[in-house]
Order: sequence, then structure tokens, then C-alpha cells
Amino acid sequence: TVMVRRRIKRRRKWRKVVGILRDLEESCETPLGRLRQMVDAIAVEMQAGLVSEGGSKLKMLLTFVDDLPNGSERGTYYALHLGGSYFRMIRVYLTGQRSSLEVQDVERHSIPTSLLNSTSEVLFDFLASSLQGFIEKEGDTSNLSQFVKRELAFTFSFPVKQTSISSGVLIKWTKGFAISEMAGEDIAECLQGALNRRGLDIHVAALVNDTVGALSFGHYHDPDTIAAVVFGTGSNACYLERTDAIIKCQNPRTTSGSMVVNMEWGNFWSSRLPRTRYDVELDAESLNSNDMGFEKMIGGMYLGDIVRRVILRMSQESDVFGPISSILLTPFVLRTNSVSAMHEDDTPELQEVARILKDLGVSEVPMKVRKLVMKICDVVTRRAARLAAAGVAGILKKVGRDGSGGGRRRSDKQMMRRTVVAVEGGLYSNYKMFREYMDEALREILGEDVAQHVVIKAMEDGSSIGSALLLASSHSVRTIPPV
Ligand code: GLC
Repeated sequence: TVMVRRRIKRRRKWRKVVGILRDLEESCETPLGRLRQMVDAIAVEMQAGLVSEGGSKLKMLLTFVDDLPNGSERGTYYALHLGGSYFRMIRVYLTGQRSSLEVQDVERHSIPTSLLNSTSEVLFDFLASSLQGFIEKEGDTSNLSQFVKRELAFTFSFPVKQTSISSGVLIKWTKGFAISEMAGEDIAECLQGALNRRGLDIHVAALVNDTVGALSFGHYHDPDTIAAVVFGTGSNACYLERTDAIIKCQNPRTTSGSMVVNMEWGNFWSSRLPRTRYDVELDAESLNSNDMGFEKMIGGMYLGDIVRRVILRMSQESDVFGPISSILLTPFVLRTNSVSAMHEDDTPELQEVARILKDLGVSEVPMKVRKLVMKICDVVTRRAARLAAAGVAGILKKVGRDGSGGGRRRSDKQMMRRTVVAVEGGLYSNYKMFREYMDEALREILGEDVAQHVVIKAMEDGSSIGSALLLASSHSVRTIPPV
């Protein structure tokens, strides 16, 4: 009878946990009908954001980029990319022929966490000193005469109100950054100041959002590229819009008739988004609550923490994980790369899941618990990927490439133009399940007939290289080394 009582108790515990899992699954549901509502809502919000400043949660920021690189650029250019978790420095050499694009040097480093809430001086001096190190190492391999000033594109992965292609002010920090008194500061000027203080002869000649860099890189290699999406620590998209549709812009004349718009889609919001109690808690405890609601459901910075919150709640309400681990109480201890490692664990014993749970201080990890955790990862990532797909489809709808606009019949393949969307970021490139769920959902939303004309192109370092290319296309005459 002791055995029986124990079994009943165990069953009760599991019933509780399974109930929590069912609730999670239900509140994360993204059936096709709901995704379609998201697509419509995104297209509507894009329109609203283009009509008036503050007209939508989508900021729809002007970039002043009207011409994308096409392969004819020449010269040596640098880019410094401040992302969410990494910063990169690169040097490219362009000879005027696309096929000979030479990325001569790339350095990637993780951003020291102490910088995230340091001061503006500390941040920019850190970037300037890193760049100094990068340049000192290059010797005479840079194809630059020593008398030529180095031209640098600053790829800055945060929302900026641009005043020109080379200047703009920070609107507010996103992701984990919280350096105070920087909103309203000109970002390019801050970096230029730090470089000057170190006596470096470098000119900050372009200030570029990472999505815009990615679009430039995509377009350089494939002119059918009309949009770019970043799935990294954060998430965002930009696309090429007709200037006459950008109603809020007073002086929209550009030679090309179009301009790249940085959507800042991380801030998209709709009451129809499948939101859970974990999202609500995460938002309330975040550095930027009530902001970036979409990003908090799909950004690599947040997925791990949603999963952590689910496991924590289960472990608080039942003891299937053993005693509550104090590690599990720490926000952001579970990183998204661990989520993908658990989700994609293909060992028969799910050893990877067990190992990561043990690292989190979970003492009970029988097979049943391992499977449960894998399922949680699946639910959270699947929702993220499907919402991301709705975002992409929203852009396609706005620009009339979703097969529905302009009186086109869905089946009329002749009318559908090939459309390329460049994708950048570790969440997409390193997390196979995210990628597969996203691709699948996009096909579901668009239907096969349309989806076959839409190409998702993954890139690496596209944001940084693309920013340098963009700078080249606006500046190439000035920086060709003298002969
Ligand atoms: C955040 C930033 C945005 C950036 C994105 C991806 O959403 O606000 O500017 O593009 O992260 O890095």
C-alpha cells in the first residue's frame, strides 16, 4: 500500500505538470487563421507607420538609403558592427567587380557584459580601442595608401532616427543595453569623437542598422532582394519602399524612387498575438517593459528565458524536477543556444537535455522529465518561428508580393516575380528547428504557388559586409587609392 500511495502521489504531480504544459501549448497556438490575422495586422501597421510619425507601434524609420550596391563599387572600406551579443570589425576590398569582393579581415568578439550598463564614454572608447587594435594589426595588407583616410561604416543594431545616411540619434536602447543618457545622442558623432580622441584617422561615413546592412549585402549579390530580416539576439526587418508611399517624409524625392525603411518590427504589437503568462512576467521584469513585445517572443535573447520561466513554474508547483534549483531563479541563465541544443538532442537517452538541466541545478532528470523539457523548447520555438514567418509575409503583402494584391490571381504564376528575402542572425542559421518551422509556416501562409517564387537567403556577416558595401556605393569616388 505504501507503493500504491506513492504511485498515486507521483501521478498527481505529473497531472499538475501536464496541465501546465497543456496551458502553455494552448496559449502558444498559432493556427493558420491566426497567422493570417498577424500578416494583415503587420501590413496595416506598416502603412500607418509610413503615414505619420508615431502613427504606429512600428516606427518605420527612414534610412536615407535609396540606392543599394550593385557590384560596381571600388575601394577599401571598413565596418564596425555593434550587435546585441557580438561586435565585429571587417575590412573589404572592392575592385568594381562583384565576383572579386574580398573580405580581407574579419574579427568577431563577444560584447563584455560590463559594457551593457556602462557609460557612453566607456562604450565608445572600447569600440575605438578595438578598432585601433584591428588597424594596427593590418600592416600593409589594406590596399590603402598611408595618406588616405580610412572610411568606416558603423553598423549599429539599435533604433536610430537617421538625419542622413551618416548621422542619426539613438531613440532608445533595446535588447540588453541600458547605458543611460544616450537617447537623443548622435551615434556617429559619439564614435567619431572617440576615434579622434585616440588620434585615429578614421572617418565614420555611414551609420547603418544591421537589417539595412543585410539588405545591401543581399542586394549586391542578388538584385531581386527586396527585404532583409535579422533573427539574432533581437529581431527586426527592413525593406525597399516606394518613396511616394512614405507619406510622413516631407522631401521624399530620391533618384531611384525608393528608400529602405527600417521597420523596427520588434515593437510590433497586436492584441491577437498568442501571449502567455510567461511573456507577461518577462516583459514586466525586463529593462524595457511595454516595449518590443514582438521581439520578446522571437528574439534569441528571450526564448531561453521563456523556457526557463516555464520550467521554474513547473518545479514550483510540483517536485518532478526535485527541489527548486536556485540557479533556475536567475533571469537569462538559460541561453537560447542551450534551448536549441536540448530541442535538437538526437541521442537516444537525451543526454544533452540531461546535461543542461543538471547545469541548471535540476536534480531529477529521468527520461520523462527530459522529454517534457524538450517539448517545452519545441512549443516556445515553434511559436517564435511561426510569428517570424507571419512578419515576413506581412512585408510581402505590403509590397504586393504575397500573390494577393493588384487583382492577380493566386494561380497566375506568370505574374509573380521572384522575390528574395535576406536573412541574417544566429537564431536562423544555428537553430535548425527554428529555421524549419519558419520556412514551413511561410509556405503555409503563402501557399505553394506563391511560396515557390519567394527565396529566403541566409547570410553570414552580411550586416557588416553590407554596410561597408553601402558606404562604398555612396562614396566610392572619394576613396579609391591614388595611383
Ligand atoms: C533590435 C534593434 C534593431 C535591430 C534588431 C536586430 O530589435 O532595436 O534595431 O535591428 O534588434 O539586431
